[in-house]
Amino acid sequence: MTENTIRTVSIKRIINECHGVKTIIFNMKENNPNKYIHPKPGQFVMIWVPGVDEIPMSISGYGEDGNWSITVKNIGECTNALHNLKIGDYIGVRGPLGTYFKLPEDNSKQIFLIGGGIGMAALKALSTELINRRFNFTVIEGAKIESDLIYMDEFQIYNEEISQFHYCTDDGSYGVKGFASDIFENIIKDYNKNDISNLIVYACGPELMLYKLFQICEKHNIELYASLERIMRCGCGICGLCAMDPLGLLVCKDGPVFDSLTLSKIEDFGKHKRDFSGKKIPVE
Ligand SMILES: Cc1cc2nc3c(=O)[nH]c(=O)nc-3n(C[C@H](O)[C@H](O)[C@H](O)COP(=O)(O)OP(=O)(O)OC[C@H]3O[C@@H](n4cnc5c(N)ncnc54)[C@H](O)[C@@H]3O)c2cc1C
Ligand code: FES
Repeated sequence: MTENTIRTVSIKRIINECHGVKTIIFNMKENNPNKYIHPKPGQFVMIWVPGVDEIPMSISGYGEDGNWSITVKNIGECTNALHNLKIGDYIGVRGPLGTYFKLPEDNSKQIFLIGGGIGMAALKALSTELINRRFNFTVIEGAKIESDLIYMDEFQIYNEEISQFHYCTDDGSYGVKGFASDIFENIIKDYNKNDISNLIVYACGPELMLYKLFQICEKHNIELYASLERIMRCGCGICGLCAMDPLGLLVCKDGPVFDSLTLSKIEDFGKHKRDFSGKKIPVE
């Protein structure tokens, strides 16, 4: 058995995060206690809903007990089918797949987790790792409207000495009006050179927000790790649907997490993605 073997697991728990978003918890040691592969923050799984489809989902949480979670936004056929599942229903899970967020070696870095919308799912797993290691960090979470903000209650129980939280919404219904990248730019504007060189940013969310962040980080020479999304079919480097020009990097295999240097070489980043037929279309 490898990461690419489909494991059939039953749903243990379902949490309603907000309208249209559910967290689904299952146990990856179920039926596979000796073949268990522990994930790293930022990795994803291919989730198979029998009779419907197989789609990529970030692993939003995991524990030593083998319980993993995915946080699913209902936007189409397969995510809707996932939302209709009940506790005890079965899904197929392939993973953990792809690259991950590499943690800083010690607690000397000032760490920012910057996410937009459902992109917070990948950062949630990272926040748990950082909390467990007692690393200080700051979260900037953005959403279209207040009711789209997720994990707020869970973030509240984190020790405030360890973490700081900033929220923003496109319409100003909660927190600052504007985008997460704007808040970040505003926070660092008074930093001196030493403070800036000590920053490390982990990001996931809409690609235009990631591209803006990338530009800010390049300007100030800040270390950035960003998780990208593309439509996927195989999830394991075979079909080529998630390829990005000009290097042909595959989001499923070379990503989804890319560092600043690699992002700087991807001409498609912030500009083009592929539809289900493989045709290039603009990133909105
Ligand atoms: C590495 C990775 C991690 C992801 N993590 C999460 C997550 O944690 N939570 C979550 O809710 N979603 C996540 N997604 C997006 C998720 O895979 C898509 O929302 C899902 O595949 C849509 O399937 P569907 O059958 O419901 O929609 P469809 O009926 O197939 O399509 C509905 C609409 O969504 C668009 N769409 C379909 N697939 C994708 C895709 N892969 N990326 C962007 N748009 C797409 C289509 O173009 C169409 O407009 C992730 C995607 C990737 C690549
Ligand atoms: S999804 Fe097939 S190569 Fe990435």
